[in-house]
Amino acid sequence: MANARTVPFPINQRDHEPGAHIMMRLTYISRYNPQNPPIELARILEQAQNNNKARAITGVLIINEDFFIQSIEGTRPAINRLLRALVNDKRHFSLQIIDCIEVVERRWQKWSMKYLTLSEQNKDEVFKLTAGTSFNPYLMNKAQLLMMIDALSKRQEQQEQGYVAT
Ligand SMILES: Cc1cc2nc3c(=O)[nH]c(=O)nc-3n(C[C@H](O)[C@H](O)[C@H](O)COP(=O)(O)O)c2cc1C
Repeated sequence: MANARTVPFPINQRDHEPGAHIMMRLTYISRYNPQNPPIELARILEQAQNNNKARAITGVLIINEDFFIQSIEGTRPAINRLLRALVNDKRHFSLQIIDCIEVVERRWQKWSMKYLTLSEQNKDEVFKLTAGTSFNPYLMNKAQLLMMIDALSKRQEQQEQGYVAT
């Protein structure tokens, strides 16, 4: 009988590799490499969305000037492959894993990689979670970071459903 654990969404060609029946969610933070050309952010996002669609990975990428905060979910082998690529990617550095858990269901089922920013509309929610006055995810603990990702995702979901003015 198919369920969220045995059939990750979307189904891909690697579903039969060892460990592919186990679903994981991994969250990390990293710093943007300032030597990147300005266009690089768009390239990263396009690459992430295209690859993830083909590899049955879903998630969110929060970008704030100097920092990345990303949650990725997919089969255990797919997440481990992506983690290896991310660690070797010179477009960011100081990657720190915040959380890595097995999950039964995806949190971002609809998003191959949703790009979220800290905006005027959501900055109050974010700043009440930060340790200092300026935003720095390296000073935030796991609970604060996961709450922030959740708050920004919920706001985005509401916007997509037409509940919140953009
Ligand atoms: C902040 C950041 C987030 C990224 N997110 C993803 C992602 O979600 N999926 C992905 O395939 N690549 C992502 N990448 C790119 C990977 O590090 C790597 O370059 C890419 O997966 C290699 O793709 P390829 O297997 O097609 O060569 C990201 C890179 C950065 C710097």
